[in-house]
This record gives sequence, structure tokens and C-alpha cells, in this order.
Amino acid sequence: MAQLPLSSSSPTIFSRNKPYLKPLNQCSTSFSIAAACKNSTYPFRKLFLQRQKPRKSLVVQVNAVSTNLETPVQTSSSEPFKPQRVMVIGGDGYCGWATALHLSKKGYEVAIVDNLIRRLFDHQLGLDSLTPISSIQNRISCWKSLTGKSIELYIGDICDFEFLTETFKSFEPDAVVHFGEQRSAPYSMIDRPRAVYTQQNNVIGTLNVLFAIKEFREQCHLVKLGTMGEYGTPNIDIEEGYITITHNGRTDTLPYPKQASSFYHLSKVHDSHNIAFTCKAWGIRATDLNQGVVYGVRTDETAMHEELYNRFDYDGIFGTALNRFCVQAAVGHPLTVYGKGGQTRGYLDIRDTVQCVELAIANPANPGEFRVFNQFTEQYSVNQLAALVTNAGRKLGLNVETITVPNPRVEAEEHYYNAKHTKLVELGLKPHLLSDSLLDSLLNFAIQYKDRVDKKQIMPSVSWRKIGVKPKTVTA
Ligand SMILES: NC(=O)c1ccc[n+]([C@@H]2O[C@H](COP(=O)([O-])OP(=O)(O)OC[C@H]3O[C@@H](n4cnc5c(N)ncnc54)[C@H](O)[C@@H]3O)[C@@H](O)[C@H]2O)c1
Repeated sequence: MAQLPLSSSSPTIFSRNKPYLKPLNQCSTSFSIAAACKNSTYPFRKLFLQRQKPRKSLVVQVNAVSTNLETPVQTSSSEPFKPQRVMVIGGDGYCGWATALHLSKKGYEVAIVDNLIRRLFDHQLGLDSLTPISSIQNRISCWKSLTGKSIELYIGDICDFEFLTETFKSFEPDAVVHFGEQRSAPYSMIDRPRAVYTQQNNVIGTLNVLFAIKEFREQCHLVKLGTMGEYGTPNIDIEEGYITITHNGRTDTLPYPKQASSFYHLSKVHDSHNIAFTCKAWGIRATDLNQGVVYGVRTDETAMHEELYNRFDYDGIFGTALNRFCVQAAVGHPLTVYGKGGQTRGYLDIRDTVQCVELAIANPANPGEFRVFNQFTEQYSVNQLAALVTNAGRKLGLNVETITVPNPRVEAEEHYYNAKHTKLVELGLKPHLLSDSLLDSLLNFAIQYKDRVDKKQIMPSVSWRKIGVKPKTVTA
């Protein structure tokens, strides 16, 4: 398991008592975040999974069974492997929750694996989602009551191989979608303990998943969330995973060079190398989805009920660019452009995240194949996003201004950027492009919840240059 920073005792995300939840209908343990946080004097210090009296089962009222559920996308290849059982690691998070519901609706058998650490980060840093989010247990119960569909739940840390083994043996996945990582670049740059935590959690977690596939589910397809940030901002076009190079008269197709710009991004690069190696050495089938920055909050499924609402981060540590700007506009805070604002990245709507993952699952990689897709739909610079939000906000009567903030990151602020992203479109992706109507609805959503915004969390508080050895107390 990942070593947790500054714990006075041994790392405590998991006790040795197998504190994971069985599938929901056999639920026997539970996890109390509130209790953990009360005792916590520092990040991770006392994160206990508390074993409580066995609960018989969660009673799920099935009020209505939708008859309008679609069937999984048919695979376009002649590959006979037909995935049906999908394990979503990190299924309580922003991308994972929306994806788990989407796959369940499409007819896949879904299990969520998550240690709920993301909720704990919020408690420890004094942050909160713009949207109120229900517990994972209530979310799953609500989904069952609305659709009649069950989602199995395993609560635990994938860095604990014993736990992961049990989940694999119990659920027997055909595909694993791996979202379960510490995913914030600023979080990984707060201090040494969080840098170490991020790399241990992400690299060891992924390594464990690879070993679990090798040992228990050889045919299982790994769909791993990477990030476009692994490539950095080279002064040439970015290809999808590989580049053909001629050097001193010889030609080869090689992994595209990686130039990560935070300890978080570096953990993703290492994951990619480990996955590529195990595809070659063990014949694992894997797809690395190098995802761009995700925006939006609603998918068809999460919009069905308030209890299914997804998280929406707007703070300087976990908030992503467009989502942050919409909240800033909604509360009358100037849009915070870091540096010159020419930083250009690939972006996508969360409705396309869930679509892309389904396409990858329905069209699996071949055994031994390490496939890389660039998962985004459009490129924008930070200045362009600020201009789009300003226009959309003014149409809604908001007074939107922009300020330049000294860039807390070390990155090029004006650069060439042209990244390929055709492979998912070839598989059938129908992108939801950023339109006025989407911006309107995002802004209206932010306005609806603006009373929940803590303006103190908006400005960036983490500096790439000032990262220190000592643990930093992040003030609320
Ligand atoms: N959100 C984005 O814009 C974006 C962009 C590019 C790539 N990604 C990638 O997509 C994935 C999901 O991102 P997200 O925004 O949904 O993040 P998130 O933080 O909302 O969700 C991650 C989930 O994984 C869980 N988790 C973390 N470590 C775990 C562990 N060791 N064991 C079990 N569960 C664990 C967390 O509790 C959380 O619920 C990440 O791998 C991230 O790198 C996200």
C-alpha cells in the first residue's frame, strides 16, 4: 500500500483486517470518514477504515424499473472477446462515477472499487464540491431504485494487494477501468509527503492491477486513464502514443516522448511504461486513454436524481480550468488566468469521457497490445476559455472580469500545440463540442449552487517553485 505521509504509526489506510466492503448486497463493514477526520491532525494521519458491527444488507427499494435501457455498443472488430463485467476503480470520483452509471445503463455488470480517499482530501484541505454529493452507498441505492440495476461495491485500497485479489476473485472482471489515482498536479506539488504519496499510490496501485490481471484474469482488458499532460508541450505535433523516427538512416516506431510537468504527471508516465512493459512481457491487453482536461458535470445518468449528482471541483487544487472559470463567473470573482494564458491543452465534455471509455471497452485491445488513444475533442488556450466564459456570462447578465495571476506552475505560457485525436472518433465517438448552450447550462448550474462556494479556495495556493521538504499546513 502507499506509504502515507507523516503517520506516527504505520500507514493506516488499510488495517490488516481486510476492511473492505463486500459487494453491496453482502455488505459487512463500513468506513467512517467523519471519525477519521476528527482525529486527524495532518493529512492521512489517522485514516482508519473502521470495522463496525456487520450490517445485514442495505435495503434497496426498487421503485421503478426503467425499460428504456440500452444494450452495450457492439464491438466492430472480429475479436471474439466480449466484455460484460467491468470493474471501475475510482468509481466514486468525478470521471469514475459518471462512467460507472453509464456502463451500468448500457447493460454491463459493474463493480465500483474505491477507497474514498478523494473525499478525505476534501476534509483535510477544507475543500468541498460545488454540488452536494451523496455517500457512495446512497448513490448506488438510488441508482438501483431508479433503474433496477445493481452496482457492486468494494471499498478498499488497490495498493493493498490482498484486497485487490479478493475483488478480482469475487467479481471476475472482463475489463478494468482504472481511474483510481491521486489526480491533482497541484496536490502532488504541495510538499514532499504529498509528492511521495502521489507517486506511491498511483504507481503501486497500477502495478498491483497489472499483477492481479496476470494472476487471476489473463483475458481482462485494462483501460487505464492516462493524461495528455504526459506529453508536455513539444514544438512538434503530438501523435497518439507512438512516433515513427528516422535516426542516422534507421527508422523505428517508438513511444512518443514524455515531458511531464509535475510529480502527478510523472506518476502517470511511469504507469504508462509499466503497462507497456507488461503487455510485452505477459501478453496483457491494455488501452491507455491519454485524457485531456474534463469539463461539465451532468451526464444523462447523473442528471436523473440529485442523489446521483457528480462532484464539481472549483478550488485551486482539484478544480479544472473551464469548471473553475464558470464558478468564478457565477460568484463574481475575476477569472484567474495564470501567467500569459497561452497555455493550450485538449479538453472534453464529461459526456464524452463516458462515451470514450465505453468505446474502448467494447472494442478491446488484443492480447499483448498496448494501445494509446488521445482522449479529447477540442484544443483551447486558457485565454480562449476565459473569453468564452466572459461572453457567455455577460449574456446571462453576469459581470465577468479577468485578472492575470502569477503562474504558480513551471510551464510554457505561449507555445505550439497540435495533438492528434482521431482513434476514438474512428471507433465511433460523437463529440459534444463546447457550445454556447453548454456554457449557459454550466454557468446556470454554478449559479444554482453559488451559495456553497468558498471564495477563499479559488486562488491558487500551491507553487511549483516553493514546494518544500516539510509538510505544509494548508489553511482552510
Ligand atoms: N478530471 C480530469 O480532468 C482528468 C483529466 C485527465 C486525466 N484524468 C484521469 O482520470 C482519472 C480520474 O480522474 P477524476 O477527475 O475522476 O479523479 P477523482 O479524484 O475525482 O477520482 C479518483 C477516485 O479514485 C479513488 N482512489 C484514489 N486512489 C485510490 C486507491 N489507491 N485505491 C482505490 N481508490 C482510489 C479516489 O477515492 C477517487 O474516488 C485519474 O486517473 C486522472 O489522472 C482526469
